[in-house]
Amino acid sequence: MLDGEEGYAVRKSMEILVALGDIFGAESLIKVGSVQVAGVSYHNLGDAGLEFLNELAKDGKVKVLTTLNPAGMDLENWKALGISEDFAAKQNQVIGAFERMGILVSCTCTPYLIGNLPRYGEHVAWSESSAVTFANSVLGAKTNREGGPSALAAAFVGKTPCYGLHLDENRVPDVTVQVDAKLSKLSEWGALGYAIGKKAENKITYITGIKEAEVDELKSFCASVVTYGAKPLFYMKGITPASETVQAPKDTVTIEQADIQNAYDNINDEVSEIDFVCVGCPHCSIKEIAEIANLIEGKKVAEGTELWVATSRTAKQLADIRGYTQGIEAAGGKFACDTCMAVAPLKGRFKALATTSAKGCFYSRHNLMKTKMGSLKECIEAAVTGKWNN
Ligand code: F3S
Repeated sequence: MLDGEEGYAVRKSMEILVALGDIFGAESLIKVGSVQVAGVSYHNLGDAGLEFLNELAKDGKVKVLTTLNPAGMDLENWKALGISEDFAAKQNQVIGAFERMGILVSCTCTPYLIGNLPRYGEHVAWSESSAVTFANSVLGAKTNREGGPSALAAAFVGKTPCYGLHLDENRVPDVTVQVDAKLSKLSEWGALGYAIGKKAENKITYITGIKEAEVDELKSFCASVVTYGAKPLFYMKGITPASETVQAPKDTVTIEQADIQNAYDNINDEVSEIDFVCVGCPHCSIKEIAEIANLIEGKKVAEGTELWVATSRTAKQLADIRGYTQGIEAAGGKFACDTCMAVAPLKGRFKALATTSAKGCFYSRHNLMKTKMGSLKECIEAAVTGKWNN
């Protein structure tokens, strides 16, 4: 493959994988069951990225199930979301290149909700930090935090260098985190992720003290904990599957209610007028969409405020069937499938965001927005009043 016997894309991919393996001291390549490719938005790729993808697409075909992260726009409804013709044309070229490679144009950061679901212990090569953390921790699969090019390379080769989190000796927790705080709404899982990420910087955590967790809460936590500094692997006693197979480290830190409040204080800006509400970071599950439809029933999104429900096209199709889409759109909400607030070209377009997501706040500040994080109920209230009320 390295000699080019299987063509350009495979040779280029092997060069990337061999270089990575050399840097990290991998002794072999290991087969992967699936790949998740990030780096899909034209906003981030630019023309150089598009050219790189077009070159690979000339003869590159993926060897394993490969899904895509969100793009820079809703691939169908981009006009209604204010995306320019020029941007859409370029984004479509990016998508075309991925399609020619045989990649599933799923455009979601929750591949595990739409059919790319690794089994416990399976090796995969995923990029997208929240999905990597979910795969490693909640599913018990094994993946490093790949970049876009290295994930793509693994897809063309069907293998990845065996180092880092593919090796059990590197999956041992470093620190125990005792949680002595009550988590009563979705955004508090984001706040918990912030608090743990800051305290356990670049470590693998063993979390105790949490009795129950829903999948939506875990996906929110995964996005936050890795954004704010922890490694993309945690164990949660009694919740995640591998938590019984490792020992809790002696070194312990505690998270108290004050840490959760401190997270809110740091994530939330002083702002009361809200012109952008975006829920679905990571992408909304069908359960979350149902909750939004329920909360907004009989209400109207305020003039001058936009409400985006960011989700996968697959989840929206279920929402269409169940009538949730019609309800949310009748209230003035917009679905933002295939995309998200971090990778869409939003810089300067909105002044203040309300969201359920700690990760969403982190990236929206880069897009020059003030941020407010709260529950789904608080976010929908902000959408219909144009104000943040606490
Ligand atoms: Fe997903 Fe975008 Fe958030 S990729 S995790 S919705 S920043």
